[in-house]
Amino acid sequence: MKTIVITGATGGIGLHSAIGLAKTGARVIVTGRNAERGETAVKRIREEAGSDTVELVLGDLSSVAGVDALADELASRLDRIDVLVNNAGLLANERRVSEDGFEMDFAVNVVAPHRLTHRLLPLLEAAKPARVLNLTGGKASGPFDPSDLQAEKSFVALPSYTQTKRAMEALAMHSAPELEAKGVYLTVVYPGRASTAMTQAMGPMSLPWYMRPAFPVFSFLVQRKDGGASAEKASRSTIYAATTPDLEGVSGAYIDTASQRGSLHPTVLDAANQALVVEAVGQVE
Ligand SMILES: NC(=O)c1ccc[n+]([C@@H]2O[C@H](COP(=O)([O-])OP(=O)(O)OC[C@H]3O[C@@H](n4cnc5c(N)ncnc54)[C@H](OP(=O)(O)O)[C@@H]3O)[C@@H](O)[C@H]2O)c1
Repeated sequence: MKTIVITGATGGIGLHSAIGLAKTGARVIVTGRNAERGETAVKRIREEAGSDTVELVLGDLSSVAGVDALADELASRLDRIDVLVNNAGLLANERRVSEDGFEMDFAVNVVAPHRLTHRLLPLLEAAKPARVLNLTGGKASGPFDPSDLQAEKSFVALPSYTQTKRAMEALAMHSAPELEAKGVYLTVVYPGRASTAMTQAMGPMSLPWYMRPAFPVFSFLVQRKDGGASAEKASRSTIYAATTPDLEGVSGAYIDTASQRGSLHPTVLDAANQALVVEAVGQVE
């Protein structure tokens, strides 16, 4: 039986990914910050997937100490991880700083997946060939500007979030060869737009000034209550990347919202840009 860990699976795309992955017969460990939301999610995943091998582990990914505590708890329960899905993500509407001094989106979207993956390496290696999936977002395959990684010069919710996802991609591509050498294959997955807690919390000021007049269109596209239909659709690329034989032994792939192989932007693949992210994260491993 495969063991799959998926972070931030108490709602949205992660919840639907967990349902789809539990249907494959895997043991699925979901993480979240809140016990009540977590227990509700586990009950629903078990019921919808017809599975009794779904568990909850609580953990906050906004600090290095929180990531380490989550990794330690997972290590105390598991002897292998076949697939780690770094799904949890944050799109904050105002600039906040984490307890480690990182801008909060950067802490959750860049530092956390990198550190969690490295802390769980022994469990991933125990299942090799193992997979790590990092969920990206913002404009698909867009350009990376590493000049303001902590959003100190300018913070606008959507573009700042998007740059943290580009930074995560750059760091993931930098780490992929090192992980591959240990039998761990990393893929960046783009789920596509979905109406979730993240997108429903956005307002006109979350957008750059030139897009604000078009907020009603944006709202129509991603804030409609659709009973989870768009989140279920967005979960399909994760479920594909976690299970397809096409990605066996493939390192550093990018899977788009239609579950097709694609390319990340050249500025993400640029070694100098990647080095800036490595430096910003402080070689956290
Ligand atoms: N929705 C979209 O249109 C869209 C588009 C492209 C990419 N994405 C990406 O897809 C992924 C899932 O997004 P979503 O829209 O499904 O988001 P969501 O509904 O807001 O769910 C986010 C999940 O992350 C968890 N989380 C947030 N901050 C956390 C923290 N500090 N520590 C631990 N867990 C935390 C939440 O758990 P709690 O229960 O603890 O809050 C929740 O389970 C994200 O990586 C996002 O960037 C989303």
